[in-house]
Amino acid sequence: MLVPDRYCYLSRSVPLADTVTLPPLPPAKLGDQHFLQDLGLALPYLCGAMADGISSVDLVTAIGKAGMLGFFGAAGLELAAIEDAIITLKTTAAKQGFRFGCNLIHSPFAPKLEAGTVELYLRHGIDIVEASAFMGVTLPLVRYRTAGLHKDPAGKIVVPNRIIAKVSRAELVQSFFSPPPSPLLKTLQAQGLITTTQAEIATHIPLADCITAEADSGGHTDRRALVSILPAFIRIAAQLAPRYLPRRLYVGAAGGIAEPRAALAAFSMGAAYIVSGSINQCCVEAKTSTRVKELLAQARPADITMAAAADMFEMGIQVQVLKRGTMFPMRAQRLYQLYRNYDSLAALPAAERKNLAANFFGAPLDQAWQDTANYFQRHDPQQLDRAARDPKHQMALLFRTYLGKSSQWARHDDAEHRLNFQIWCGAAMGDFNAWVADSCLAPLPQRKVADVATNILFGAALLARLNMLRLHTHESWPDFQVRPRPAAEIEMFLRG
Ligand SMILES: Cc1cc2nc3c(=O)[nH]c(=O)nc-3n(C[C@H](O)[C@H](O)[C@H](O)COP(=O)(O)O)c2cc1C
Repeated sequence: MLVPDRYCYLSRSVPLADTVTLPPLPPAKLGDQHFLQDLGLALPYLCGAMADGISSVDLVTAIGKAGMLGFFGAAGLELAAIEDAIITLKTTAAKQGFRFGCNLIHSPFAPKLEAGTVELYLRHGIDIVEASAFMGVTLPLVRYRTAGLHKDPAGKIVVPNRIIAKVSRAELVQSFFSPPPSPLLKTLQAQGLITTTQAEIATHIPLADCITAEADSGGHTDRRALVSILPAFIRIAAQLAPRYLPRRLYVGAAGGIAEPRAALAAFSMGAAYIVSGSINQCCVEAKTSTRVKELLAQARPADITMAAAADMFEMGIQVQVLKRGTMFPMRAQRLYQLYRNYDSLAALPAAERKNLAANFFGAPLDQAWQDTANYFQRHDPQQLDRAARDPKHQMALLFRTYLGKSSQWARHDDAEHRLNFQIWCGAAMGDFNAWVADSCLAPLPQRKVADVATNILFGAALLARLNMLRLHTHESWPDFQVRPRPAAEIEMFLRG
């Protein structure tokens, strides 16, 4: 059903019958205006980080140039690769005047990497990070937040570095919206990394300014419901906010946001901004293979499942992945069962060893272990000492190699390993495909990250306006669907 054009010009007011007028509703108005001002953004839309550089320099640049914010997917990359990306992003952003951030992922098994990433960010003046997978407050997080803290001549606290923490549990909201813990401040002071004055100033600021409530999403997820966690987090923020005034706390929403109605639901619940993830992986700018994007473009909402995670395999942690077109989820779960049931590779039944060699590693297990050992020799030799003492740890290292490689095979479209592709993905992907079917965003080459974002925000604002219309008049379009439109058409409606 078509809605008359006059409702689509979102920057104009629309006089209705009697004395009622629908005010202008440009998409920027959907989010928190202070948030936009504080972060220097035009629109309340963020592209969450996607590991291994999937949220690439190109993706972060494209969304930044459109007045939104993207996070470079630093997780899983070596420091040198992150640094290369940062240098390119900094140069382009300075020339073209846009904002960008980087991911800071908690690495419980590689604490040096987490600390090294923070030092890299500080060296390059990265002033916004999306902090994720944290189970508590760590020293590198506090180091990042407190670096450069000072008061200006008027006595106002200046905090150069901003943390946007992505969490799904209320306890963490409390921790991130509290000042950095004093034992960690003391440690930094003892290490000469902050002064006594900075340690004192830090007791007056929250560790993070923004918290993204992450509901059921692609990749690592607690599979929580947005309608439950977002209001709960906003409640906690409202309780803690007065102590930091005039500094503000913001709560955004992530998980399952794929189309205008979902975006409007998040804003209506009070989200200061929204964050998308899964839907960006099949966009032109995402750094993954065309094969992966083609599989994603066919996904339906139920084509996803949970599978063992490479980084926290031994703890039984899982990630949400695509199940259509790959056998990875089944195979990853098999590895976890074997790990639970056997104490060493040698103890595995012959049939299992044969299956692993043929279908998982494409090589006899001894050779596969040798490759794994070579990797750890270069990156983390202590793991090999432990594996020599503990055969179960050896098994975990080998299985984690499969889990790690399976996402690389997908990104590089390794034809030999197509059945082992690991593709992180949430239900949002299927919802998005259904929304864009037969529209200008259906073909993969048309899925540009900024056009996707603009369509979602434009649609959400239009729906919000039609909701107001429904409240004020008898006019309504109950079966109205906001169809994706070409960028030029949206531009016309927004400018007109
Ligand atoms: C392919 C992929 C990789 C991801 N990698 C990361 C990551 O490295 N760090 C992170 O904080 N979040 C990561 N995420 C989560 C996203 O940043 C975002 O929070 C999430 O995808 C939003 O939910 P949605 O998938 O339902 O849109 C990833 C998501 C996907 C789909």
